[in-house]
Amino acid sequence: MPIKNRFADMLPEITGWRHYLHENPELLYEVHETAAFVADRLRAFGVDEVVTGVGRTGVVGIIRGKNTRSGRAIGLRADMDALPIHEATGLPYASKVPGKMHACGHDGHTAMLLGAAKYLAETRNFDGTVVLIFQPAEEGGAGAKAMIDDGLFDRFPVDEIYGIHNAPGIPVGTFVTRPGPLQASSDDFEIIVRGKGGHAAEPHRAIDTTLVAAHLLIALHSIVSRNVDPLKRVVLTVGTFSTDSGASNIIPDEARMRGTVRTLDPEYRAIAEARVREVATHTAAAFGASAEVIWDPGYPVTINDPQGAARAVDAARAVARDVIDDADPIMPSEDFSYMLEKVPGAYVFMGNGDTPMCHHPQYIFDDEAIPYGCSFFAELVAQRLPTA
Ligand code: NI
Repeated sequence: MPIKNRFADMLPEITGWRHYLHENPELLYEVHETAAFVADRLRAFGVDEVVTGVGRTGVVGIIRGKNTRSGRAIGLRADMDALPIHEATGLPYASKVPGKMHACGHDGHTAMLLGAAKYLAETRNFDGTVVLIFQPAEEGGAGAKAMIDDGLFDRFPVDEIYGIHNAPGIPVGTFVTRPGPLQASSDDFEIIVRGKGGHAAEPHRAIDTTLVAAHLLIALHSIVSRNVDPLKRVVLTVGTFSTDSGASNIIPDEARMRGTVRTLDPEYRAIAEARVREVATHTAAAFGASAEVIWDPGYPVTINDPQGAARAVDAARAVARDVIDDADPIMPSEDFSYMLEKVPGAYVFMGNGDTPMCHHPQYIFDDEAIPYGCSFFAELVAQRLPTA
């Protein structure tokens, strides 16, 4: 079945919004102009309520159906923030802000949800309430969590929630998702090893911090290979390693390393943290040094509710060219995970054709995908909030 015809008619208008947002990228919580643009459009569509400043700069729009006898509500979410990347696409509507770019297609996500909002406000052909959620700070700022902490689901309760992310490398018109874990959690750590600095020619008078840290680095790599069920998916990478020695003849006082743990199994977040702490403390102690571990928990595992995924697949099948319902999970993380921890639902990937990867300076969101995303949202509402 094709996209909804109304969105084909609306495509030039929605594309115009997308290009405006693309020219004016904003980072993290500083999405003031973007949020104002979204709120202005929603008011112009005549949605019933527009609330700004949720989770600092998030925007919520409420659309009530022809009736609300079902008492049910569905949440639809888009992210609004851009990335600190200097755009290199050469597009006529390229970023006007040096060093900032919508390189993850959140401009497209926002424009598609606005398109769906305009359609839903016009038609109201559903029984219940649609809660439109435009969040700031998906790119590392946990904007979804900020909105939840600001009472998002207490003030605007929903029974189910859905979101879309574009996916380069998948044909336009194809939707991809799966039940269960879809994207990994992301936790960072820093370890500071403290030995006893001294002269490189007299190591017996020092505690060689570099050597201790080197043993520790290797020991950390035993965690995934020796403490994790081989059938589970966990990655541990140490990305930085440095000491405060400035020369070859100095044994340093201090060494630092920073790393990340990614997993699709929430139980391994706690196991990995406990093991990193144990391995660091005891490895350092074995050499007479000490280790301080700073754990920085990041985004949780993005877990699709099985029923939510099935419902998303049903809606996608009604509007897409192709639907893959048993995709492999991916290891990059996503803060829609916080919303899926609170409300059952699903995240879906929508094909963005053959463009460079997200977060690449030549990444391009494909405007031809817009009617599919809008149709998916509208179809979800039609299926999940049917009129009698
Ligand atoms: Ni993104």
